[in-house]
Amino acid sequence: MLFNRVKSLDAIMATAEKKSLRRSLGPFQLTLLGIGAVIGTGIFVLTAEAAQKAGPGMLVSFMVAGFVCGVAALCYAELASMVPVAGSAYTYTYAVVGEVMAWMVGWALILEYAVGASAVAVGWSNHAVGLLHGLGVNFPSALSNADALMAKVQLTFGATPSQDLLTALQVGGWVNLPAIVVAGFVTWLLVIGTTESARFNAVLVLIKILALAVFIGLTVPVMQAKNFVPFAPTGATGVLGAAASIFFAYVGFDAVSTAAEETRNPQRNIPIGLMGSLVICTIFYLLVASGAIGTIGAQPLMNAGVALTPGTAEMAGHCAAVIRSGALEPLVCSKEALVHVLVTTGYPAIGRLVGLAAVLALPSVVLMMMYGQTRIFFTMARDGLLPEKLASVHPRFRTPHVVTIVTGIATAIAAAILPVGRLADYSNSGTLFAFLMVAIAVMVLRKTAPGRPRPFRTPIVWVVAPLAIIGCVGLYLSLPLTAILVLPVWGAIGLVVYFAYSRSHSHVGRGIGGSDGEDDPPIYGVKM
Ligand code: ALA
Repeated sequence: MLFNRVKSLDAIMATAEKKSLRRSLGPFQLTLLGIGAVIGTGIFVLTAEAAQKAGPGMLVSFMVAGFVCGVAALCYAELASMVPVAGSAYTYTYAVVGEVMAWMVGWALILEYAVGASAVAVGWSNHAVGLLHGLGVNFPSALSNADALMAKVQLTFGATPSQDLLTALQVGGWVNLPAIVVAGFVTWLLVIGTTESARFNAVLVLIKILALAVFIGLTVPVMQAKNFVPFAPTGATGVLGAAASIFFAYVGFDAVSTAAEETRNPQRNIPIGLMGSLVICTIFYLLVASGAIGTIGAQPLMNAGVALTPGTAEMAGHCAAVIRSGALEPLVCSKEALVHVLVTTGYPAIGRLVGLAAVLALPSVVLMMMYGQTRIFFTMARDGLLPEKLASVHPRFRTPHVVTIVTGIATAIAAAILPVGRLADYSNSGTLFAFLMVAIAVMVLRKTAPGRPRPFRTPIVWVVAPLAIIGCVGLYLSLPLTAILVLPVWGAIGLVVYFAYSRSHSHVGRGIGGSDGEDDPPIYGVKM
């Protein structure tokens, strides 16, 4: 009974065809769109956290995470070419596995997009504060992170008042104000109807690529072999843990598939865009990580023989104590890893320019993620699973202002009080679930609809899709315990909502088609 509500592929295509968004995106723009959505807080900030978890072994972590995304992208590509409509993993699951699972995927995508947007907002905050510092303006620590708040909560709930926790309480902050500001700014842009124009996106992508290329050019030639030893101080567990976290650095390539309705010849171009952006990012990430390790080292901070957990008040306190002692700040403590490496290796001005590149470009990653979120909400509301009121359109701006503002508030709150690494891990738990469902969907569809045209076929699907499943489950289980728990708890809340509201309001359940989507906002890149 639970799995009998499937939205037929033909119905999905018919709904989409009525919308007739302009098909303007080609393979090059799609690849740029993918790179634009992918390069962000992951490489600019979380490189430090990956180092704390795995040491130089984070190189392997980058490869593992990239590989899992690669096999998932191959599955995405087959579905996106067969069902070239917006809605991404949610839509595919609806067509293949049915409504309940589609709902759960849509629900999990909220973690991916809204919580992911929070993580990127915190990454932006780190760089904005660093840039101001470089210009001689010291933004108060109390308002630029939530380390003291976290320490206070831990102490209130009975944690032992260790020296590290007390230091975090003393020097840490209470709220991340710049992160709230950037989330508010992006919300405002979305409400007044700014979507990323393809041309503007291309400029920002070039800025990011230039920043990473300069970093590679300055660091890779002067790498020292000694900095790679010991290579994996925390063993395989550490390497896998870092892979699960750094997975965040690759998230976003699925934005390409959500632009399917605006793509020329999507059957050919979507797979090119998905795989192209992923391959380019992986190469950049491996070179950047090598440069960071090779120049200033990447050994984790240990406490009594055990690596401290990044993103905790203890770690923040420990780092604050190291810096106060006058020692050089290690990579693993840095809040803006790449800037820190350049400043430490004698390129302070260029380092600050790389920071400026992050400050300029990260808001567009926040925008893509928040936009993706409103898009998913929209598609779900169009199917009747969420109240259509929630997706009401602003009379003047023609944007889904209610859902955008709700998303903006949630993003801002999470960004204000949680550290970047935790937000990224929570986001990853939702993304891994969505990727898992896509891998299942591609195999199910090979069995149930073998004759349907597949302009792009996942190569050796019976190897690639199971590898994607194993990879997603493996990375999920390598996340920190709180992030592992987030998914089932969030999922349970989702099921309550589904049975209390969505099931009885579902258009498929009530035997009516979706709305014609006329009021839907455009997706990425329509304004050329
Ligand atoms: N991959 C994106 C980032 O690292 C989400 O910011």
